[in-house]
Amino acid sequence: MLRPVITIDGPSASGKGTVAALVARELGFHYLDSGALYRLAALYALREGVSWEDENQVARLAAQLPAAFTDDKVWLDGHDVSAAIRAEDIGMGASRIAALPSVRAALLERQRAYQQTPGLVADGRDMGSVVFPRAELKVFLTASAEERAARRYKQLIAKGESANLPQIQQDICDRDARDAARSVAPLRQEPDARLLDTSALTIDQAVKQVLQWFRER
Ligand code: C5P
Repeated sequence: MLRPVITIDGPSASGKGTVAALVARELGFHYLDSGALYRLAALYALREGVSWEDENQVARLAAQLPAAFTDDKVWLDGHDVSAAIRAEDIGMGASRIAALPSVRAALLERQRAYQQTPGLVADGRDMGSVVFPRAELKVFLTASAEERAARRYKQLIAKGESANLPQIQQDICDRDARDAARSVAPLRQEPDARLLDTSALTIDQAVKQVLQWFRER
């Protein structure tokens, strides 16, 4: 219990990253955004001219990812890639390379190294099932596909980008299907995870619920 872990897994655009980061801040815990590692590996492969289908080469790059998280920014090889890794095509690339077993294996220990005192909040798809199976609290955080698409649409418009709601919803459904259907670490609710459907909740309510579950244990 010296380094307790809270895992928050769930589908894309469910808000789990926002909730996880706020729970970590509230508790003074470390925070692992595991999706960012998959996004970084996809971006790195693209920049190195390696195809997302080339399992061995992508795994080689993932194992030596020159990435850092500092000052609220994400760095790759000394470049600020905080915005670049959030692009839709990189999200799709991340989901493709995440289906490759050697790539997942290459990132495993790097993720486990985040378990440090006083504790960790980790968000992703397989935090509770594979990376931290003994976590003190496991949450499966989701929202309806319509609600997730609407949230993503609002974010893009707020950033001044163009956005097409039906297209976003289709992309979200495609990504969910690929994440749930893959043979390694598929996205699913673990039997010992608590379900948090945020379709009708504010971020603040979702954060409070996770904190309450953690304190009640
Ligand atoms: O969470 P985020 O959308 O940033 O993740 C990008 C992609 O990385 C996901 O669609 C998923 O395929 C993959 N991923 C994963 N396992 C994780 C985190 C992310 O497979 N733990």
